[in-house]
Amino acid sequence: MICNNLSVNGEGHLTFAGVDTVSMAAKYATPLMLMDESKIREKMTIYREAMKEYFTEDSMPLFASKALSFKYIYKLADSENIGIDCVSAGEIYTAVQAGFPMEKAYFHGNSKTEDEIRYAMESGAGHFVCDSIEEVSVIDEIARDMGITQKILLRITPGIDPHTHKKISTGSVDSKFGVAIETNQAYELVEKTLALKNIELMGYHCHIGSQIFEYDPFCDAARIMIKFIADTRDMFGFTAKELNLGGGMGVRYTEDDPEIDYRANIRGIAEIVRSLCSEYSLNMPKILMEPGRSIVADAGMTLYTAGYLKEITGLKNYISIDGGMTDNPRFTLYQSPYTVLLANRMNDSCDYKCTVAGRCCESGDIIQEDVMLPKPCRGDIIAVLTTGAYNYSMASHYNKVPKPAVVMITDGEDHIVIKRETYADMIANEV
Ligand code: LLP
Repeated sequence: MICNNLSVNGEGHLTFAGVDTVSMAAKYATPLMLMDESKIREKMTIYREAMKEYFTEDSMPLFASKALSFKYIYKLADSENIGIDCVSAGEIYTAVQAGFPMEKAYFHGNSKTEDEIRYAMESGAGHFVCDSIEEVSVIDEIARDMGITQKILLRITPGIDPHTHKKISTGSVDSKFGVAIETNQAYELVEKTLALKNIELMGYHCHIGSQIFEYDPFCDAARIMIKFIADTRDMFGFTAKELNLGGGMGVRYTEDDPEIDYRANIRGIAEIVRSLCSEYSLNMPKILMEPGRSIVADAGMTLYTAGYLKEITGLKNYISIDGGMTDNPRFTLYQSPYTVLLANRMNDSCDYKCTVAGRCCESGDIIQEDVMLPKPCRGDIIAVLTTGAYNYSMASHYNKVPKPAVVMITDGEDHIVIKRETYADMIANEV
């Protein structure tokens, strides 16, 4: 199977993190998201240890919490001694409620409002990652009002176009994020930032995109950014202490995706950073990385109950489920591949082609097209694998469908970390 936390038990049921998924569906109802705590910790550990070993002792991963933001995950990040990347006051609020040490939080976003900036400062968010000179000036003013000096990184666009879906590619010169080196605006940004009194410029950030399998684009980004550090040292006498290389390493959604050795990738990127630093006579900066998907994706799966089977003679078969684009919009948005299994009949042969259709009034509400399953019947449990990243965090209330429960498996024990929403929850703010 595509991940080592999956297996099949004696009853022919799919197991995940050692528990029977069919009994989880019976206990908690569906749609249900299951999360594997040991997988999350394993990935956090790989990043933490490899970064310390290959970069510098103080280098550290920041969990990109846009991939999955809820209190428990910030507690895990804290207990694994890593930092976090937040992109909104809402994510900051959730982390604060979880008791996360906010000096290890990096506040991102290309459109931070003044209220959010103030709130992040009051919460003690350690660093801001800034996107434009206008934004840096607003942060400087607010920091002055509050009598503090705010540490920041500048988000630089390295001009790299990795091979991934256009909607999740961010490193090219025309991106809405960051300021480009190619147009020289990045240099102007550094110069202007250095003149501000309530800003302490710590270094630079770049992020080239998401779900990237090749390792070369990360190396190219590192090369460009180290040269940028050397150039801005030579131009302005300022040496960046920190370099944040962003997130983006891919995960396996299906057997067709390659397996990624995250540790080996980090080692390879570090070799390039090290040799360039010595070429440019720089001390290696503290390196940060922002993995989101690769920390949580395969630590999650979603269980649905099969509804009606619609066979359109000579054309197509649809099996409907009790969830869909409201809990997983990724096929609708990006035609993302997923592995789909019939969790309660894992030993039956997969000889029936069908499309897994969500419940929303929208033709595009599909979870996966033309998958091979045992012919599904009403009441079967359909498992969609690798849904830990950008599923719950992108869930919506379209068609007034409540969000599913999230159950964490910790050392073989299941416990609720997000309750299933009720209809009353959904109208709580309606007057
Ligand atoms: N850092 C920055 C600045 C980012 O913009 C992102 C993702 C990350 C880190 C984390 O990247 P990761 O390691 O997860 O690839 N909704 C899309 C993904 C959008 C990614 C946005 N930024 C999806 O479902 O594929």
